[in-house]
Amino acid sequence: MNATTNQITVCILLLIANLIFSSCAESTKEKKNNEDTTDIYISPVSFDGSEYTTNQEKILHGKRLANLFACNNCHLSDYTGVNFGDFIPILDGLWASNISLTLPKLRDDQLEELLRDGTHPSRDLFLMPSKTSQFLSEKDMDALIAYLRTIPEKGNPTPIPPEGYKDSVSARLPANYWRTDNEGKPYYHTSEDEVLYYRSHTLPDLGQDLLKGRLIAQTMCSSCHGAALDGVGEDSGDIKNAISYDLSSYKLLLKQGITIQGDTIQSPFGTGHASVYLTNNEIENVIAYTKQLIEEK
Ligand code: HEC
Ligand code: HEC
Repeated sequence: MNATTNQITVCILLLIANLIFSSCAESTKEKKNNEDTTDIYISPVSFDGSEYTTNQEKILHGKRLANLFACNNCHLSDYTGVNFGDFIPILDGLWASNISLTLPKLRDDQLEELLRDGTHPSRDLFLMPSKTSQFLSEKDMDALIAYLRTIPEKGNPTPIPPEGYKDSVSARLPANYWRTDNEGKPYYHTSEDEVLYYRSHTLPDLGQDLLKGRLIAQTMCSSCHGAALDGVGEDSGDIKNAISYDLSSYKLLLKQGITIQGDTIQSPFGTGHASVYLTNNEIENVIAYTKQLIEEK
């Protein structure tokens, strides 16, 4: 493997690790809950850069969002896709699709549904993290889709998961997996299941001034710290210790992954915070929101 491939591998593992290994250590068991039924929340505020006026600015903003949401990690930088089973045997049969070829087959409304509800017009989806992209504002979603329309078609079609995929992954999951079905058996969730879980366990509204911080926490921090930043279902624990950080140490934690003890935080397969490229303003917003969140608890 060359350096680029290694780098990609690390990024992918970093993202997938959350969904598989993590969970094993988690003591809180969640039933596959029937209460996952809250209405969708679409953020009324957007990421920085959403004040685009020209089509070109819109596409650039969409490209930034595609990077923030790591579309180009899992689907690879040219969006030609990759076999996840090669990296994570438990997922054998799952490819991150060659979306350069499948995007043109989806209308804008179908694509938005996929990114908000985790649903695909013809089949179940797995691992595709619509759980976090669901919260995007309309302006951000429009920009993201506009950018996706500029991706050139390339490479070969990738396989879709085989018949019975959910059951075969479920059978391979460790007995203490965090999500179980009604009989208490480990249960591998679809993207749609994850969307509903994130929707019904999302972070509270702490007022108008904190809406942007809330959006960033819901979309960027929840992928490692869990839907409610309580560590449930993901491997990086809760964020309660935010209480010990002042503004400058918290910035250092988020920009460089350095804790107040001076340690560099580590995800099992890579760095943690340093790979989330937020603007200064976005970092200040997410700090304000998460500090308030912890203080209110
Ligand atoms: C954590 C890895 C991961 C990330 C990040 C990710 N995807 Fe996916 N995506 C997948 C996987 C895996 C599939 C295939 C799921 C399946 O076949 O069940 C998929 C499927 C899709 C599909 C459906 C393709 C088809 O075959 O019709 C689209 C469209 C898509 N992703 C777009 C995106 C966009 C846009 C982003 C960024 C906002 C993104 N993905 C981020 C893993 C990822
Ligand atoms: C790529 C995964 C990842 C993302 C995304 C992520 N974190 Fe973390 N975070 C970690 C890891 C790993 C740790 C260390 C956990 C441990 O050591 O128990 C951590 C620890 C923390 C801590 C505790 C630090 C301490 O001293 O105990 C806080 C607070 C925190 N993160 C806030 C955030 C916020 C806010 C965001 C969103 C802007 C975020 N994290 C996004 C992986 C991530």
